Amino acid sequence: MLLDLAWTLARPLFFSMDAERAHRLVVGSLHQTGRLSEAVLGTLAGPPPASLARDLGPLRIAGPVGLAAGLDKDGEATTVWPAMGFGFVELGTVTAHAQPGNDRPRLFRLVDERGLINRMGFNNHGSAALADALRVLREGDRWPKVPVGCNIGKSKVTPLDDDAVAQDYLTSVERLRALADYFTVNVSSPNTPGLRSLQAVEPLRKLVGTVVPAAGDVPVFVKLAPDFEPDELRPVVDGIIAEGATGIIATNTTISRPGTTDRLGEGGGLSGAPLWPLARARIETVLDAAAGRVPVVGVGGISTSAQARELLDLGCAAVQLYSGLIFEGPGLVARIHRELAA
Ligand SMILES: Cc1cc2nc3c(=O)[nH]c(=O)nc-3n(C[C@H](O)[C@H](O)[C@H](O)COP(=O)(O)O)c2cc1C
Repeated sequence: MLLDLAWTLARPLFFSMDAERAHRLVVGSLHQTGRLSEAVLGTLAGPPPASLARDLGPLRIAGPVGLAAGLDKDGEATTVWPAMGFGFVELGTVTAHAQPGNDRPRLFRLVDERGLINRMGFNNHGSAALADALRVLREGDRWPKVPVGCNIGKSKVTPLDDDAVAQDYLTSVERLRALADYFTVNVSSPNTPGLRSLQAVEPLRKLVGTVVPAAGDVPVFVKLAPDFEPDELRPVVDGIIAEGATGIIATNTTISRPGTTDRLGEGGGLSGAPLWPLARARIETVLDAAAGRVPVVGVGGISTSAQARELLDLGCAAVQLYSGLIFEGPGLVARIHRELAA
């Protein structure tokens, strides 16, 4: 396929560059050439076969493979991802306050293991800027035909006090409520100090119980880390469901280092192929704990249709990926969908 050939040729160039620079170059180019990229990718990749459309809770997704959060935090290429074949798209994480994120370098490739380590720290232009970008699409009749979710997180400057945290998330919800097709409450990134303490049952219930009513009709998913013991996960899942969340996304990156020698010695969250066994195990626990009460989106190290199928067969309503795209290129999503439909 042409996209795979193009990626085979382009990959050595991108991989010779600093990982974040390569990322900026790609997302920036997709932003600059929006309509052209859409047309080209729409021809070479295109939407999933119609038979793959399905429900993700109240959302109708075009295919089971969605874009995971973090690749397009500020919604720069919102209209391009569906053309690349994604059945739904998650933007963000955005925070109430625009923030620069951690010092660079903060994104590293483990080429041999097909993994990434990142400690970006929610670098983003803020939820007000994302709302502005999305309003342009809504008002210009350019909204994608697939659901577009907004993943929201805590601003670094906001203290870890329950009320302050809730207010920080609420600010983003209010700005984005009339625009987003769904929200994801992110409490699982390892790179904002203290964020993951919000995954403890009580603070999490309080946060989800605040966001869900504020989101009104907009579905609310909660994204969890893989760094739980299975026993710890069950009350967390019960709490999320009790507070009325629409579904659960599992998992985020891991602070552990499975499947790699950790030769880089860099802190941050590990994603990509080395994450797969851990993510898969935790997804299974989440599915078991949720017991069909809410849909579960599986994410973590997916780069083949066999892995996507495995998670769907386990009971996931959909899957997401990010790192696989970096290693396999822009033809990956359409290929997975094609193979799933076959
Ligand atoms: C560079 C990078 C940045 C990320 N940023 C976010 C983020 O802002 N919010 C979030 O919820 N997840 C973020 N993630 C996690 C991904 O959405 C996903 O959960 C994780 O990478 C596992 O999937 P993968 O192995 O397919 O990449 C990020 C991942 C990477 C590699």
